[in-house]
Amino acid sequence: MTDIYESDKILSEYLLFHFGNRDEILTDDFSWPAGMTDSLEFPVRTVAYFSKAPAERGLDLGCAVGRSAFEMARNCQEVVGIDFSHAFINAAEAMRRGDTLFYDRHDEATRVTRLAAQLPDGSDGAKLSFLQGDAMNLADDIGMFDRVHAANLLCRLTEPEKLLARLPHLVKPSGELVLATPCTWLEEFTPPENWPATGTFEWLMATLSPSFSLVKRANEPFLIRETARKFQWTTSLVTVWQRHG
Ligand SMILES: C[S@@+](CC[C@H](N)C(=O)[O-])C[C@H]1O[C@@H](n2cnc3c(N)ncnc32)[C@H](O)[C@@H]1O
Repeated sequence: MTDIYESDKILSEYLLFHFGNRDEILTDDFSWPAGMTDSLEFPVRTVAYFSKAPAERGLDLGCAVGRSAFEMARNCQEVVGIDFSHAFINAAEAMRRGDTLFYDRHDEATRVTRLAAQLPDGSDGAKLSFLQGDAMNLADDIGMFDRVHAANLLCRLTEPEKLLARLPHLVKPSGELVLATPCTWLEEFTPPENWPATGTFEWLMATLSPSFSLVKRANEPFLIRETARKFQWTTSLVTVWQRHG
């Protein structure tokens, strides 16, 4: 597995992506296209696909620096966030404890701006735990969850089928599953023999339908700022599922 998610550069990009506000992400005196402003707050928008009723347990796989897990904790009694990156989990755990994390946003060349990230208002760190781990080899005793969220994770796994095979055992009967994927299958992360042989949506339907009903299919854009003038602007395929009762 790659360790690209351990560098200071990507940690800063993800802290900004998850916790930066509009003015911190879209800087400079420029009339940014609406498509870019519509792409902010992706980790909040994917969690909004869950029902709003209170629930017991939530799981965020590939949680990165934790924003979606913090959002899930608004109406789950307990949320577990798991990511393979030690750097990301350490950052999420520090914010969970109430620390303010300072990081350098890259603007251009050697120019940086010091910013701060912290637990969002109204999110209760005591409900959360963050664990470094592998979504393809989760502990046998992790239990089952009312809500499972995995955003932009599937096409970063070496063996995504392993996670899909585990999902019926992770989501409680009638529980909810939100998957988001930009379908950016790359050899760097996933050997081509493990890419979907069909389109990603058809592959998800064929694999998950025996245990889940598709509730909704949608698209959600997201924006990762690399410098003041360079962004990754991508659209994720979001599928929302309910585990058969
Ligand atoms: C593209 S990022 C998406 C992060 C976050 N969910 C989001 O939407 O911003 C992929 C994440 O998956 C994590 N990851 C990659 N392989 C993993 C694995 N085998 N188990 C758990 N997390 C993994 C990476 O460390 C990274 O945080």
